[in-house]
Amino acid sequence: MRDLGRRYARVATGVAVSHPRLWRLFRPLMRRNFDRLASEWDKIRGADAALPMLAALDRVDEAPRAVLDVGTGTGFVAGIAADRFPGAEIVGVDLAPRMIEQARRQHPGLRFEVADAARLPFADGAFDLILLLNAVPFAGELARVSAPGGRLVVAFSHGPDTPIWVPPETLRAQLAEAGFGDLEELSAGTGTALLARRAPRV
Ligand SMILES: C[S@@+](CC[C@H](N)C(=O)[O-])C[C@H]1O[C@@H](n2cnc3c(N)ncnc32)[C@H](O)[C@@H]1O
Repeated sequence: MRDLGRRYARVATGVAVSHPRLWRLFRPLMRRNFDRLASEWDKIRGADAALPMLAALDRVDEAPRAVLDVGTGTGFVAGIAADRFPGAEIVGVDLAPRMIEQARRQHPGLRFEVADAARLPFADGAFDLILLLNAVPFAGELARVSAPGGRLVVAFSHGPDTPIWVPPETLRAQLAEAGFGDLEELSAGTGTALLARRAPRV
């Protein structure tokens, strides 16, 4: 059953990234699958899951003011960001309400909202650091809520073996088209990360 869920996540991610308008057809089942997993997600995730994200965060030299963790699940990356950037406002969003319940319970000082990454409930340019670990990257929406010059990290814990995964060439092309530059690829453990910067205002 869990295998089926992993395969569904891969197919849904592919569709969401290549045909964002069709995403709404896949959204209800994606939400239900992750709602079901919420109570055991921290055990499922695996010890090395954060390695590529941590490697990318080592490259972020300016402390951000506002950080968004997209597809936050139980708030794992939001918690890492809070430890690294104690002065920043940290927000985590997830499609699955049960994940958000867990995140709020585990990180009472941080802000978490139920929201779809395809349509984020935030103003243009609201975040100067946006993080995704094993989450679906909707490039246009990431660009919209990214501040000019803001940083973006899209990391996958196990490269192509990650159920929610986007081929690097597709990701690079979509982020470049959406207005991100300075693309840098990293790997750590079995994972990969792409670090990017939103074009500064001209
Ligand atoms: C593989 S989990 C990763 C969770 C977390 N980043 C971690 O590493 O522990 C993917 C998460 O993305 C969420 N998700 C999937 N599609 C989403 C969307 N369109 N918008 C927001 N969250 C989404 C799921 O509900 C799930 O919690």
